[in-house]
Amino acid sequence: MPSDNESLTRIETQARSELDAVADAESLERWRVACLGRRGRLTLVLRGLADLPVEERKRVGTQANRLKRELETALQEKKARLAQSATEALIVERIDVTLPGPPLPRGRLHPTTQTLRDVLDCFVSMGFQVVEGPEIEWDHYNFEALRIPKDHPARDMWDTLWIDYEKDGERPMLLRTHTSPMQVRVMEQTEPPIRVVVPGKCYRYEATDPTHEWMLTQVEGLAVDEGMSLGDLKGTLADFAHRIFGPDRKVAFRCDYFPFVEPGMELRIDCFLCGGQGCRTCSRSGWIEILGAGMVHPEILDAVGYDSERYTGFAFGLGIERIAMLRQGIEDIRLFYANDLRFLRQF
Ligand code: FA5
Repeated sequence: MPSDNESLTRIETQARSELDAVADAESLERWRVACLGRRGRLTLVLRGLADLPVEERKRVGTQANRLKRELETALQEKKARLAQSATEALIVERIDVTLPGPPLPRGRLHPTTQTLRDVLDCFVSMGFQVVEGPEIEWDHYNFEALRIPKDHPARDMWDTLWIDYEKDGERPMLLRTHTSPMQVRVMEQTEPPIRVVVPGKCYRYEATDPTHEWMLTQVEGLAVDEGMSLGDLKGTLADFAHRIFGPDRKVAFRCDYFPFVEPGMELRIDCFLCGGQGCRTCSRSGWIEILGAGMVHPEILDAVGYDSERYTGFAFGLGIERIAMLRQGIEDIRLFYANDLRFLRQF
């Protein structure tokens, strides 16, 4: 049992160096038990004092008690330091719930969809109803029922993507080349009066250029009623053009041929890029064609069971990408579906 200065000094040196090495609350408790606990090293010295001669008891007792107090103080200080560093670690690791989250990229509507919605809104406000039809269509609806029989040269107006499916040695299905088949489908299922617009994708086996894509979006329009005239058609389309492009835009109707209308026409808008001078985008014509139109052919009205003596109608089919080009100043239609975000993020 240590009973003199030397032993106390050894106890103190060992205790302090062990305390320095303590890094957590559990080792601190082990240190306390080993030094100051009931069977601790210093406690044993204090207990052994009774066996010492009086003089030595006094001297060793004083020093041992002083060391006990000092080690107790050191213990408290170490405890406080450990608590402090635990708090600091928590502060470093804590999650600040008041910080705003990382920003989510915001999507937007494709420029074609934006223009499509504006165009449909315009016709809906005039009393037209929106209906949709199939993108894979029968030859019958896409051509035959629109007075475009097989082997007729008018088929060349629509370079066609056929579905690889044969029946009786023929391919009766195709990707619709225009939305006009819906004229017949709607009339077969509805009695006049009719006022519908039909949005949808169309596909053509097309050599692409600044105003031609192989996939395009059309909106078909059909109005059938008693007393419908070419004046109604022109008035409706001129009103539409001025609402979409502004009152100052030049609009021109020109005769055109489509087998399912009589008479037929196209509507053109002056080129946004060259102002009518002629450039690459408008094929040097100064104009951009945005739609084909005309009075529904009486044979088609009769074929769906309408009395063509009583009812007349007009129809039109417009190209949404061309309209978006004119409104947004887009020089090349091929940009729409090239999936280049630098282009798409501008709208
Ligand atoms: C037609 O598709 C007729 N169905 C339109 C019609 C409907 C006429 C009702 C009469 C009555 P056309 O092939 O011209 O017509 O196309 C109509 C419009 O679609 C064009 O004015 C143009 O705006 C757009 N369009 C045509 N082909 C393309 C193409 N390859 N790329 C982009 N837009 C096109």
